[in-house]
Amino acid sequence: MALHSLTLEQYFNRSHTAVPGGGPPFTTLLSHVGLVGKLLSRDLRLAGLLDVLGTSGDTNVQDEAVKKLDQIANETCVQVFQRSDVVCALASEEMEKPVIVSKPGRQAPYMVLFDPLDGSSNTDVNMPLGSIFSIVTHQPDDRPPGDRDLLQKGTDQLAAGYLLFGPSTMFVVATGKGVHGFTLDPGLGEYLLSHENMTIPTRGRIYAANEGNYQKWPEGTKRYFDHLKMDDKGTGRPYSGRYSGCLVADVHRILLNGGIYLYPAEAKKPEGKLRLLYEANPLALIVEQAGGLASTGTKRILDVQPERLHQRVPLLIGSRDDVREAEAFFAKS
Ligand code: AHG
Ligand code: MN
Ligand code: MN
Repeated sequence: MALHSLTLEQYFNRSHTAVPGGGPPFTTLLSHVGLVGKLLSRDLRLAGLLDVLGTSGDTNVQDEAVKKLDQIANETCVQVFQRSDVVCALASEEMEKPVIVSKPGRQAPYMVLFDPLDGSSNTDVNMPLGSIFSIVTHQPDDRPPGDRDLLQKGTDQLAAGYLLFGPSTMFVVATGKGVHGFTLDPGLGEYLLSHENMTIPTRGRIYAANEGNYQKWPEGTKRYFDHLKMDDKGTGRPYSGRYSGCLVADVHRILLNGGIYLYPAEAKKPEGKLRLLYEANPLALIVEQAGGLASTGTKRILDVQPERLHQRVPLLIGSRDDVREAEAFFAKS
């Protein structure tokens, strides 16, 4: 078979990649996430030519200014998943309340929690963007899900994925069977397997963080960042800083090349900035399955029991040795 000729659907329909709790409905769901990626990549490619840049004038439930593209991406996700026969509930960073897609009788098996557009400050400057998806199952399946059914720990996720809108559009998926990356061939309208069994190096040489927040950090956090700049680890050079303002793009770089992404707690904002259910949990599942770690600074992300849908959490994510080292510095705060 020629290189890069296996589609997303073909790949997940093969028996050895079958997901526990998966089967044909799971492949259907991945295909629908893929459709969201195709629709959004079309919108983003033309964004500078259409009236879709800038803010909408609204603020979201997180009290953040909503970009027009945040709304478009959210509506795209809702429309695609609402029409999907395999999804019974949706929760989004952009919506205060979940959408329950209830039908009489047996319920659809999956619930999807998502950040429809990640890195939305990049929309107006033609920089990378992403979308993040967490997939959990609904049980028992004989009643419609309620809001609390969506509050599942990261370890309970069936699968997670992100779309990265860069020079090419990629769909990276973690199931119980490794992490695999697919690249959209826009001419074919298909995602083709391009990165099978992705693994993250145990240590990297780059860090990604918004260091403008340095003065707000606790002492241990500041000392860790000072250490990254001093420590040559035998190579004669410090870590390189690489921060795009898009979590998906920064984590994707780290997944491929190693290193660490941090959005740590601040002295006056101990809960951090990023959202547990829409950002931290799905990316933690992907990075852990690739051999890395994700931590709040003191605890494994996937073990945090969610109490609220829009709960925030500090996030340290990336290569195993880098995350462990950061935790050790943070513990000295
Ligand atoms: P979102 O666009 O979904 O609100 O997420 C933005 C996130 C993340 O993508 C990025 O790493 C971080 O927030 C950027 O925040 P700062 O502007 O504070 O650095
Ligand atoms: Mn985001
Ligand atoms: Mn977002």
